[in-house]
Order: sequence, then structure tokens, then C-alpha cells
Amino acid sequence: MKPLLLSLCTTLCVLAAMAQSPAYLDENLDIEQRITDLMSRMTLEEKIGVLHAQSKFSSAGVPRLGVPELWCTDGPHGIRPEVKWDEWDQAGWTNDSVVAFPALTCLAATWSTDMALLYGRSIGEEARYRKKDVLLGPGLNIYRTPLGGRNFEYMGEDPYLAGKLAVQYVRGVQSNGVATCVKHFCLNNQEWNRHGVSVHADDRALYEIYLPAFKMACLEGGSWALMASYNKIDGQHAGHNYRTLQEILKGEWGWPGAVVSDWGGTHNTDEAVSNGLDLEFGTGTNGLYGGSRNTYDAYHLALPFLDGIRSGRYTRQQLDDKVRRVLRLHMHTTLNRHKPLGSILSPEHYAAACQIGQEGIVLLKNEGNLLPLKAESTTKILVVGENAVKMMTVGGGSSSLKVQHEVTPLQGLHRRLDGRVACLTWDRGYVGDVSGSYNGVTTGQDLRENRPFSQLVSQAVSDARQADYIIYIGGLNKSYGQDCEGGDRKSYSLPYKQDSLITELAKINPNLIVVNISGNAVSMPWAKDVRAIIQCWYLGSEAGTALASVLLGDVNPSGKLPFTWPVALSDVPAHRLNAYTNGNEEYKESIFVGYRADRESGSKRKGQQPSPLFPFGHGLSYTTFAYSKPVLDKKTVTPSDSLTVSVDVTNTGTVAGKEVVQLYISDPESRLPRPLKELKGFRKITLAPSQTKTVSFTIGSDALSFFDPAIHSWVAEPGKFVAMVGSSSRDIRAKAEFVLTKPAENQ
Ligand code: BGC
Repeated sequence: MKPLLLSLCTTLCVLAAMAQSPAYLDENLDIEQRITDLMSRMTLEEKIGVLHAQSKFSSAGVPRLGVPELWCTDGPHGIRPEVKWDEWDQAGWTNDSVVAFPALTCLAATWSTDMALLYGRSIGEEARYRKKDVLLGPGLNIYRTPLGGRNFEYMGEDPYLAGKLAVQYVRGVQSNGVATCVKHFCLNNQEWNRHGVSVHADDRALYEIYLPAFKMACLEGGSWALMASYNKIDGQHAGHNYRTLQEILKGEWGWPGAVVSDWGGTHNTDEAVSNGLDLEFGTGTNGLYGGSRNTYDAYHLALPFLDGIRSGRYTRQQLDDKVRRVLRLHMHTTLNRHKPLGSILSPEHYAAACQIGQEGIVLLKNEGNLLPLKAESTTKILVVGENAVKMMTVGGGSSSLKVQHEVTPLQGLHRRLDGRVACLTWDRGYVGDVSGSYNGVTTGQDLRENRPFSQLVSQAVSDARQADYIIYIGGLNKSYGQDCEGGDRKSYSLPYKQDSLITELAKINPNLIVVNISGNAVSMPWAKDVRAIIQCWYLGSEAGTALASVLLGDVNPSGKLPFTWPVALSDVPAHRLNAYTNGNEEYKESIFVGYRADRESGSKRKGQQPSPLFPFGHGLSYTTFAYSKPVLDKKTVTPSDSLTVSVDVTNTGTVAGKEVVQLYISDPESRLPRPLKELKGFRKITLAPSQTKTVSFTIGSDALSFFDPAIHSWVAEPGKFVAMVGSSSRDIRAKAEFVLTKPAENQ
């Protein structure tokens, strides 16, 4: 061939090769094919490189092949402010302020799958705009004790409620091309000694209570990532626990996603390699001063893994399984070229934060319809308590945020009432946490106070005499030892002598409304002396707006408790059985967590569960609802049938409102002990005055089953069942019986 022709051919070949993108970028191909192609191009070192952190919150991609870095962020209530590459310290950016959404306990209290989807979509948009690929949340650990320091980041005591809401949260976030990383898998129900405690739950408790929400989020929601917890499970750390990760999550469930360690939750290379961990974060923090083998290289899934493969200690299959899972995460996120752009600080996000807050606020008590407030030009309102003015988005651990703005409860009330009432004043009442800073982010508030408690009380009491209404706004906060990561509460009581202050106020003025801000139940020894009680969670940026709208009746409260509110700590099954011992934690109460511990008199199980102060599912409205008798589409079902339970619900009051209709199933006769009832359906509906809607629930035999450890399987035992429809777990309005037949009878 002539030299000129040869060079022309070569140029054309090169141009053709350049124009043809590699198969791993070809979106017409199946993801697994693309990953196979990508893996075939990666060196051993490049494969190891995607399995561990390269900074506090990122892992490397494959720079040579154009695979971008993978960036994670906390989670789960807003996008965390930027920290330095190698340290937890603030990076000092000035453009990383966000919208704070309500804490997840509030989302759970909405009992609304619509709100969960809105939440996920909105926070996912903020994550996407901030160029994050993985959002570290939602938190799905079951509320086992009201002392749990991280309960505010979780979704209550019921696996079905938490799971159904998590599914929508996950779908909402992931529609942005941002992965959720559901956490903390699993049995992470206490913070004290969280790295050392070894938890034992029997198989029924594990499968019926502690796993289902994760399973729903992973399989039904399709979460692309999951974070293992810090604690040990039966003596082995959860971050590389063979049983939970390898056998159950990846084996029994066949989940294809990537297991991410919690930050600093990896302790052993052999176990990390063999027991299901895929992506390691936070083991060492400083990549700068480690000499030639800096700390990122020293991660268990870095050089130790590489050396082990070279020496034959670990296999290529072990490596490739992890790499494939991590690359799936990349395919959905960093390599997804169709993901939306995201958005941040938008009016829509503020509106979402406000609406979720409004729907999650729970009206616990409202004697004589003290609420909504009748605000007239002569009305004098006194607000008492530190939480009325304290910003709550800063603090609490890794979920702490830097917000563009936060409306405190007092500001919310001022915005709504200024110019409309005779006066709105505030008294401090007590001094709680005045720090106002977390991890280098400060609220800018100066909450210092020199007056002694006695003086603050007498001031509040004397002002209370003049007021038409007293709105007490207290509760917990996000300082260490309260609703905060890394520690549990020391006591079930309200801190800072609030009980005595509330008691004094109740003596002076009967028009006392207590607003408790917390992520946990607290003891309320004064509950019978107070006419109105509101449970207000950490509501984020629009906290004050949401609270004021409910207090004034602009919004009719519709939140329901996602956990049982006990009178005393000794009423909590875990505490009553003295199981909360911190060292080796045996879940002696098994499946009887929260309302599942309720027993009928004459039950075979010993001990009558005391009545709670407020039951699971409880929440009042400014209107009332009537329920018809439920109608079943059949009285006899086979294991493969579905059953539809329908009920008519009518708004019998004078204002529009939302009701959460709850379906519980009871299995009165069973080979193994079962709870009196279990939540198997819920629906939030809106009703105008006098309006009636029919609510239908369709369930399958899974809703009738228990986990039988003897055969390691779910069992729906033939016999009688009862469908119970109600407004809370202890306010069952109507029941209907049906029979599950043996499979053979129908063949
Ligand atoms: C927490 C996680 C969090 C991670 C990263 C850990 O201490 O347990 O929930 O996502 O830090 O900040």
C-alpha cells in the first residue's frame, strides 16, 4: 500500500475507534453487560480502588476510564455541610446551606406515603444539586426504647409503617439519580457503647421486627445501597456479619446492591472480605501523613485485601462480587447520564418541609377543645420555654445541618399573630442547652442566661396569671445525652426541671398548652393537669410556620404516633425485662415491642401490659370521624387468595380534616405466641365536613403470617383471623372475622 493511503486508513481507523464509545457507556445495553465490559478493562489495582474511601465522604472512581468519584453525604434530614477532605472539620464553604426537612420521626408520624415520596424527591433534588451520589439514609432502626439517642432519625416502632414509608422515600431520592443508603443494618437500637455492644435477638424478633423495614426498602423500594451498623450481632461486628449481610441480605433476599460500612465500622480484613462488606468508609481519617502507605491504603478493603489476593488468601470471585456491586451503584448514579439537574433552597422545598411538618405534628390531648387557639384582638398569649426560641437544626450528630434559615416556634407565632392579638410575649422558663454549635457550625444565637431557675419560674408564673393562653414549648434538644447520636438519654424524664415548671404553670392557668419538641417519648407526670398537649418533632427549616398553623387551626392536625408513649420507663418491655444492660444486649422481649406487648386479660402470656399514656397510632383532630362496620369481600380465604377489607369513614365534625385509617390483623389462636394485633395497612384520607369515603385494604397471606424459627419460614396458620379497623392501636372502631383455609381443601 502506498504510504499516503496507509496513513489515511490508519487515521480513519483511529477516528472510528474514537467515535465508538466503550460498551460500558452504551445505554442500550443491559447494566450487567456494561459492568462486565467495564470490569474487563480494569486492572486489579483499579478494582481495589473502588472499594474504599479516598476522603472522608468520597471513594475513587476509575479515572483512567472516566468513572467519576462517588460522593456520599449525610442524611437523612438534609444535605450535610461540607467537611475537609480528610477531617470532620468544616470545610468552611459559604455555599453549602440547605433546607432542613423534618426529622424522620415526624415523617413517620405523618403516616402518609405521599409525604414520604415528597420528602424523598425533595431531599434527593438537594443532594443532586450538591453533586452527591449517595444519601446516607433513611434510618430504619426500630424504636425499642425511648432512651435511644438516635430514635429521632428513625421511623418508629412498627416495621410495616417504617417500611412502607421508606419505600417511597427511597423511590423519591433515587428518581434523582442519587442512591439511598438505608441504615443502620441492623439491630442498632441503642447508642451507648455502640461500637462494642453485642446484640442478640431471637429469630422471630429478627425476622418479624428488626428486618422487614430494611427488606421493604431494599427490595420494594430498590435502594441501591445499605449501611451496616456499628454494633456487634451475636459477637460479630455488623459491618462484616456473615449471618445478616451474607446469608440474609445477599443470600435469602438476593439483594444486588452495595453494602457500605458505617464510618469506622470495619475492624477485620478477613471478615470484611468474606462477610458481605463492599465499600469501606471512615476506618482511618487522615490520608495526608501516613508515609508511603497512607491511611486510605491501609483500609481493610485496600492494600490488605490486595495483598491477600496476590498471596492467594482471598479469591478473585470475592473481589469481583464486591466490584460488581459497587459498579452497579456507579451505573445508577455517577455514570447515569440522564439524571435530573436537581435544585436547592427552592420555594417548593420549603413548602415540602412545611407540609411534612404540619402533617406530622400530633395532637395528643385537647380537653374541652382548648385548641385551636381563638386569637382575637383582645387575646393575650404567653409563650414559655427555651425550645420556643432555640434553633434545632444544629446538633444531634451526623444529621446536623447548616440551614439557609430556620423559623423558630416563637418566630412562627409572631409571623402569624402580630397585629391580630393584644399581646404575644415570651418567658425563658428554664435554661437547657445554650451551646448552639455542632461540629463547627453555629446557629449564631446567644441563649446565655444568668438568672437562676427559681427566678425564671416566678417570672413565668406571674406572667401566666395575666394571659388568656400559655403555650409552653419545651422538651428535649439535640445536645449529647438527649436526641443525639453517640449516647442515649439517661432518664425518661424531661431535663432541666421542666416538670416542676409545667406543674406550676398548670396550677396558675387552666388554658395551658404543652408543646413537646423531641424525637422520643418523655414522661409527663403532669399530663392529667394540662388540657392540651402537642407532640412536635424536630421540624427543620419551617418548624415555627408549621407549628403555628396547627395551633391556630389553619391546618387541622393529622399526625399519629409512630410509637407507643409509655407512662413510665418500666412499662417498656425491654426495660421491664431488665434487658437494657449495655454490655451484651439480649432482646428478651422478643417480638413484643411497643404495642405488640399489649395483651388481653386472660392471655396465656404472663403479665398485663400497662396502658400507655398515648398508644401507637394515636393522634387527635379538630374534627371527628365515624367508622362503618368493615366489609370483607370473602369470609373464607385460601393462602393464595387476597382479601379486601373495606370501611366507610365519615367526617362528623364541622371542619375538613385528615384521618389515618389503620388496619390491624389479629390471629386469636396460634401455635406460637403472637401479638394481639399487628398493623397490616394504613391510609391517610382527607374529608370535608359530612363527607364519607370508602377505604379498602387488600392483603395477602403474608399479612397473616408469623416466622417459625423451627422451619425457618413464614407460616400462615389456617384458622380464624380478625380484621380490626381503627383510629389507633387502642381505638379499634370495628372488627370482622374471616377464616384461612388449609391449602389442600381448595385443590
Ligand atoms: C453515623 C452514620 C453517618 C456516618 C457519616 C456515622 O457516625 O453512624 O449514620 O452516616 O457517621 O457521617
